Amino acid sequence: MKLAGSMAEARAMAQGRVGLVPTMGFFHEGHLSLMERSASECDRTMVTLYVNPLQFEDPADLARYPVDHERDLELAAAAGVDVMVIPDPAEMFLEAPLTGVSVAGIGDRLEGAYRPGHMDGVATAVTKLFAGLQPDRAYFGRKDAQQLAMVSRLVHDLGFPTEVVGCPLVREADGLALSSRNVLLGAYREEARALSRGLLEAARLFEDGERSAAAVEGAVRNALPPGALDYAEACTAAAMEPVDRLEGEVVLAAAARFGAVRIIDNVRFTVDGRGAAADRGVWLDRPSVLYDADPAGADPAGGR
Ligand code: PAJ
Repeated sequence: MKLAGSMAEARAMAQGRVGLVPTMGFFHEGHLSLMERSASECDRTMVTLYVNPLQFEDPADLARYPVDHERDLELAAAAGVDVMVIPDPAEMFLEAPLTGVSVAGIGDRLEGAYRPGHMDGVATAVTKLFAGLQPDRAYFGRKDAQQLAMVSRLVHDLGFPTEVVGCPLVREADGLALSSRNVLLGAYREEARALSRGLLEAARLFEDGERSAAAVEGAVRNALPPGALDYAEACTAAAMEPVDRLEGEVVLAAAARFGAVRIIDNVRFTVDGRGAAADRGVWLDRPSVLYDADPAGADPAGGR
């Protein structure tokens, strides 16, 4: 695996079909599954590791975001990555950019509403990486369903010659969706299972024939301790528009807060001519590699 300190350097290492996996580092099996998928489908796999300040509306959240480059490099090399791009902050957003990208509608709702500026910060950073690295394919996890929908639309609207590939959501063995932030949950780790428990209950109701959005949203709300839930909303997978009935491709997206940590998760429902299916993602059968790590800046008390 080669290291690149700028996008130009990385581009010079491109050969054949290039797959890109944009990340903010502190890898877990969710990230690694995207890298492995790219490595199996592309001639060169590039991973960018950049904690994008534009998408953190809360400076405290940015300050405690876990970082361990040495560990990340080892995990990425083992996953088959060819080029690890760690751009100089001066090349990215050391200074606030004067040019920004926002995707109307998709970027305004849910995460966009609860974290002002967040979705625009993601759209602007992803656009810059696509422009600078010109990947043939870019791999994104369904864990961040709204991000995936937004990036797909952005690529269509701006005409990037990049194919956006959505990949399965990976869960820890007890169902909690993998996130680098899980190491910050500390004493709240058990309580945080409530979010996935609610979504999995919603998936069970759906499989029993429930088609009301309010009913599956209610299942998530009921699973959570009072005050923890930011939202649970059934929306179209492509445009993230709220729906009343579960028909076509629908994402039941939810966000909740446990201590100082906010987590998001979702399940995906498909109802078409061939029948109905709930996509809950895939489960690890062992503890995540996340817990082998000693995150610099992690607060073991979870802010309690
Ligand atoms: P980050 O949170 O590091 O995630 C990088 C990629 O890994 C995203 O595509 C995300 O959806 C995927 N991912 C995270 N957890 C996952 C899980 N449990 N299962 C499957 N995939 C998972 O998302 C970002 O970084 C940033 O917003 C970024 C796109 C890099 C822009 O700054």
